[in-house]
Amino acid sequence: MPATVSDSRAFFYLTMTPNFDFATALLDWFDQFGRKDLPWQQSPTPYHVWLSEIMLQQTQVSTVIDYYLRFIARFPDIHALADAPQDDVLALWSGLGYYARARNLHKTAQLVVANHGGTMPADLQQLTALPGIGRSTAGAILTLGYHQSFPILDGNVKRVLARYYAVEGWPGKKHVESVLWDYAEKLLPQQRIANYIQAQMDLGATLCTRSKPACERCPLQSACQAYALGRASHFPGKKPPKATPIRQTYWLVLQNDQGQVLLEQRPQTGIWGGLWSFPERVDTADLDVYCQQQWQLRLNSQSMLSPIQHVFSHFKLDIQPLLLRCESAGVTDKDRGNWYKIEDTLKLGLPAPVKSFLQSLQQ
Ligand code: ADE
Repeated sequence: MPATVSDSRAFFYLTMTPNFDFATALLDWFDQFGRKDLPWQQSPTPYHVWLSEIMLQQTQVSTVIDYYLRFIARFPDIHALADAPQDDVLALWSGLGYYARARNLHKTAQLVVANHGGTMPADLQQLTALPGIGRSTAGAILTLGYHQSFPILDGNVKRVLARYYAVEGWPGKKHVESVLWDYAEKLLPQQRIANYIQAQMDLGATLCTRSKPACERCPLQSACQAYALGRASHFPGKKPPKATPIRQTYWLVLQNDQGQVLLEQRPQTGIWGGLWSFPERVDTADLDVYCQQQWQLRLNSQSMLSPIQHVFSHFKLDIQPLLLRCESAGVTDKDRGNWYKIEDTLKLGLPAPVKSFLQSLQQ
């Protein structure tokens, strides 16, 4: 019988490196390969750590460096930032994107000056009460800036831990994230907390990358469960795709006593802009009144035809065609709609499902 995942995991537990120490292995690697020359590492005050962490939240290190240097040249301390007009802060942020980060940064600077004497609080609850500071950013400030022992869990660390412990599921899910926080907490070392936290981020950014992780060079390889399963790239789990929304519409296939069908040109904007299609309704109420008022037609009979589903990139359209036989006197407004023999419709600009529907009517 082939081995199942749980068999191989059991095998892994029996054979895993017995005295492997995550933090020691990571710190040894950091001493050799970790990043130590980033500008915010040169004077890692809580202010500098906070500023760099906010900039790094959704932006790559290589982009952040110049912004960071310009920012601290203009706002060398939190008082300078708090006193600045918001426009100056946003101008220096311009190009980094996610401007709520800049507005929160400015607000937080003012709150720290007003309520904490201009010093970033060295307390998890007080930090996370400030705009733009979540648990992980607070952890980075407390460890890198204050050398206190706290876990962090940014995207890089989530990936490292999801692989190390082979945690199934998408970390955007609350329960998966909470499992990862527990592991992050459990692994914290007694010493060198700032280096350890930086090492976790560096490992995730340089070796334990999203695609093509460099497991052969990883200091955690011998104890990594995802590696043992031969499935490093499977972790962390992907975000489940959103269910495609479904919209519904009725096509009114108005047919006159000569067998012609009525088509109208759709508005230039929106789906099928400028193409010819059937009049649409969201429901079937008062179709006789509709035919009379919209098209000056008398409705003689109505019947349902086979439904059609058309798939767009962001939604599905369920179409219920209704065949409405009418007595035609009306429809003279050529700008709005026109009667066509079915064989003549095929030279118009038609959406694909309209075309195949008309072809099916012809047979
Ligand atoms: N990403 C988030 N924080 C970082 C840091 N301190 N160094 C490098 N990359 C990071």
